[in-house]
Amino acid sequence: MNRKSNGKKKKNILGKRSAYVRSCFPLTKVRRSRIHGRGVYAARLIRKGSRIIEYTGQRVQEKDAPDDKDNSHTFYFALSNGKVIDPVVDGNDARWINHCCEPNCEAIEQRSRIFIYAIRNIEPGEELFYDYSLQIDEPVNQRTKKQFACLCSSSKCRGTMLEV
Ligand SMILES: C[S@@+](CC[C@H](N)C(=O)[O-])C[C@H]1O[C@@H](n2cnc3c(N)ncnc32)[C@H](O)[C@@H]1O
Ligand SMILES: [Zn+2]
Repeated sequence: MNRKSNGKKKKNILGKRSAYVRSCFPLTKVRRSRIHGRGVYAARLIRKGSRIIEYTGQRVQEKDAPDDKDNSHTFYFALSNGKVIDPVVDGNDARWINHCCEPNCEAIEQRSRIFIYAIRNIEPGEELFYDYSLQIDEPVNQRTKKQFACLCSSSKCRGTMLEV
C-alpha cells in the first residue's frame, strides 16, 4: 500500500527507532583492562552527565564486612550510613570499573545508592574509570600509599588509589 507521509511523521518514526536502538544495545561491556584485571568499557558513545550504571550489591555493616588488611584488592563500596555495598551478592558489572586519577566518571551517592555518571563524553571503546579515593583505618603514609599503588599512568596520577 502506498502511503504519503509528511516530514513530521518521519521524524517521529526515526526518533522512536533511535530510542529502540539505545534500549537494545548495552551502554557498557566488560573485558580485560590494561590497568588491572577486568574493566568496563563504553560500548557506544556515552554523553557527559549520563547515569551509566548503579553499583549494586548486598548492604553490609562495615564492621561486619570481612577485610583482608594485607590485600589492597577490594570490591566494597562505602556508603555514608556506615554500611558497604558488597557486590558478591546481587552485584552487577559496575564492580569491574577500575580507578583512575584522571577519571571520566564519578560515583555519586543518592539515597543510599551509588550511581556512576559520565563527567565528560566517553567514546566507544574507552575504559570507564572513577576516582576511588579509598579510605582506610590506618594512617596514609608511604607504606600504605604503596600498598594501594595506582597503575593508571595518567599525567595526573597521584601514585595511589587512596584519598590523600
Ligand atoms: C572493584 S575492583 C575493579 C575490578 C578489577 N580490575 C578486577 O578485575 O577485579 C577494584 C580493585 O581493582 C584494582 N584496581 C582498580 N583500579 C586500579 C588502578 N588504577 N591501579 C591498580 N589497581 C587497580 C585494585 O586491586 C582494586 O582494589
Ligand atoms: Zn593514578
